[in-house]
Formats: sequence, structure tokens, C-alpha cells
Amino acid sequence: MRKLLFAGIAAAIFLAPGLASAEGPIVIKFSHVVANDTPKGKGALRFKELAEKYTDGKVKVEVYPNSSLYKDKEEIEALQLGSVQMLAPSTAKFAPLGIKEFEALDLPWLFKDEETYARAMKGPVGKWLFQKLEAKGISGLAYWDNGFHMTSANRPLLMPADFQGLKVRISGSKIADRYFRDLGSIPQIMAFSEVYQALQTGVVDACENTASNYLTQKFYEVQKDITVSYHAHLQYAVIVNSKFWNGLPPDIRKALDKAMDEATDYTNSIAVKENEDALAEIKKSGKTTLHYLTDDQRKAWHKAMQPTYAWAKGRVGQEVLDLVAKELDVKMN
Ligand code: LMR
Repeated sequence: MRKLLFAGIAAAIFLAPGLASAEGPIVIKFSHVVANDTPKGKGALRFKELAEKYTDGKVKVEVYPNSSLYKDKEEIEALQLGSVQMLAPSTAKFAPLGIKEFEALDLPWLFKDEETYARAMKGPVGKWLFQKLEAKGISGLAYWDNGFHMTSANRPLLMPADFQGLKVRISGSKIADRYFRDLGSIPQIMAFSEVYQALQTGVVDACENTASNYLTQKFYEVQKDITVSYHAHLQYAVIVNSKFWNGLPPDIRKALDKAMDEATDYTNSIAVKENEDALAEIKKSGKTTLHYLTDDQRKAWHKAMQPTYAWAKGRVGQEVLDLVAKELDVKMN
């Protein structure tokens, strides 16, 4: 009994967090802020299933959804400290680390459609961005899709003038801050887990997000009008603590890479449909009114948000803008 106790204490002292002891499996804590019933939530659960299967139970993945372990900013700090091993934050959330280049992906109407987005992220842009994380002790494994943002308030948002004076919750990107300012509103960064209550109590008036997040966080219950604007894209970087990941036995790493590849294909294959289904459910609820922009209205939004492109250069730098422009064959100003 005493011997066992000593062994336990020694293991607790000498083993890095998450690494296996002789008796137990390697534990990967995977924390995220959304519901299980979303593309990211389902992707995390699929990764768990495959990782445990391909390692014959030598790895145990504990998934913590809905900010149950950490909120937005805290989770990245926790990853760096090794208190959690895997995350999938939206790419808008890396700026507090001093990495601003990911925000180029938040430019309004940058990706024409889902296909263009997927192609861009598989190319050099995605890899180049991941390299930026390495100096922070973080490794990027994959990009997971969650489709395009809608925006909402308690009044119809059809023309730029409708945004005048609205307090809009944003998740962290200065590019989003800029385009909402271009529309005349007042953006405010707030953790995802606090948005519902902030909308309900009027701390903020408006927000943007994807249909699956509107549905599962019930934002649609506290926003009378949602514009299906699809003005910007929401994507996640699946990231790990580099020291933990590089310290895994090679055979385990190989099995986990395979699990991640398959979980990524799965997540990216369901994202569009999940959001379509979520939108249909929101519509069916009758609790909010959905608005779709006419061509003229969309043009007016484009025009109002255009200054964000010129401003972005000073924020994210020319290099990433050039990379994105080349990949997408678009002009950046
Ligand atoms: C948000 O904060 O709005 C998003 O990043 C939430 C998420 O992870 O989908």
C-alpha cells in the first residue's frame, strides 16, 4: 500500500501532464467553447472515438465542450502551460498571442464560397499561418470549417445605416472590429460563453455567428432579426501543445495523426449541412425573422466595408495579404 502511494506520488511529480504512466493511458484534454451538436463539437467527439480506437486505448481523449473547462482566452493560455493538450479555437482568437496574421481570414467577403475557402486553407496559406504558432509552443494540426457568419439585432439589418450605433459582440478579430466600425456600429470583444446573457440583458445589441452557433447557444431567441448575410467566414485551427505532441511515442503520434486526418475530413464534410439544418430549425422556431440581402443591399455592405481592406495591411501585414490574394486570385484593395 505504502509502495503504491510512493509510486503514485513519483509518477505525479515526474510525468509531464497528459503523458502515460505505466498503469494508465495518455490523456488528451480537448477543450472547446461550442456545443457538442455543432461541426466542431462533432469533430472533437469523432477525433476522440478514432484516437482511442487507433491507439488501442493507449490514449484517452477527454472532450470538454461549451467552455466547461476554459473560456476563449484562457484556453490558449492553458494550452501553453500544458494544462490542456488540444483545442480548436477560431482563428480570430490568436491576436492576444501577438499573432495577427490569421485575421486576414476574417476579411469580409474574402471567400466566394465554401469551396474557395477549403482550397485556400489546404494550400500554402494554411501552412504558412501554422508556422507562426511554433514560436509560441503551439503546433497546428488541421483547419476545421464552420461556414459563414450571419449577423443579427433586434431590428432588421439590411443597409449599412441599420448598424448605426449598435453595440456588436465580436469574438476577437480586429478585422471584424474594423468592418463593424465601417458600418457605424460599436464592436466589443466578449467571451463566447457570455454572449447569450449579454444579448438578453442588452449589454450588447447585436452579434455575428454561424447558424449552428446561433441555434445551439439560443442566440436566435434573444435577437428578433437575423440577416443571412454570410459576410465573413468562421474557421478553427486545431492546435496542440508542441512539447506534449512532440514527446509522444512515434507509433502513438502516427495513430493520432491518422485519427486527426479522418476527423478533419469528417468535420469539414458536415459543416455546410449542419449549418443549413441549424438555419432551418431556427426558421421553424418562429422566434426570429430571417432576412436575405438583395443584390443592391449586398453591394451597399461591400462598399461600406471596403475600407477594411486598405486598413488590414497595417494590421496583418502585406505578406499574408499577398499570399491570400495569390491563392484566391483576388485583389486586396
Ligand atoms: C465565437 O467566439 O463566436 C466563436 O469563436 C465560437 C466558436 O468557437 O465557434
